[in-house]
Amino acid sequence: PSIAVLLSGSGSNLQALLDAQAAGELAGEVTLVVSDRAQAYGLQRALNAGIAAAHVPLSAPRGPLRQQWERRLAGVVACFEPDLIVLAGFMRVLSPVFLERFPDKVINQHPALLPTDGGDTVTTSSGIVIPALRGAHVVADAIRLKLPVTGCTIHRVTPRVDDGPVLARAEVPVLPDDTVESLHERIKTVERRLIVETVNRLLG
Ligand code: GRF
Repeated sequence: PSIAVLLSGSGSNLQALLDAQAAGELAGEVTLVVSDRAQAYGLQRALNAGIAAAHVPLSAPRGPLRQQWERRLAGVVACFEPDLIVLAGFMRVLSPVFLERFPDKVINQHPALLPTDGGDTVTTSSGIVIPALRGAHVVADAIRLKLPVTGCTIHRVTPRVDDGPVLARAEVPVLPDDTVESLHERIKTVERRLIVETVNRLLG
């Protein structure tokens, strides 16, 4: 099976997939990496691994040009006929313009716990009820709200932001002296394992 990865940043989760692939422990093959940002280090990681890398620059944040960008992005991705599309730190929201071309094939990593029922709270394994954190600043939100625990979620992507059926979730403690960086790194350590496991479960 063919896997396309969309990212905007460092791509350490992409690297986890590539490392698993190199070790013969991935139930698919990353065939394409696409970014909206030319400087995304994830593109370099793809090139280092001999994998096709494409930069599809965002033409406008909204309006007809934005839709054109999504169509162009979808066109590039479609060339590789992926069985699975992983949003691994892709910081753009995809609309039905993109999603309708790849029904049930797009999954997203989110660095916080999302509810399985689409609600606004999550009950942790120890029975604590915490707010569901959505948006682009959820690691900082977990610290600001002094949550004792946060985590990460992998979910199917629907047009509703940070929603859609949950595929996997893991809890991560928030420590008293955590900074956004230290907490995000602890979350990402767990995310890298979870993305490989989840891709294998979906494609295996
Ligand atoms: C991850 O925390 C992911 O959940 C979020 O962006 C981060 C990507 O990290 N959406 P990296 O670029 O894979 O290192």
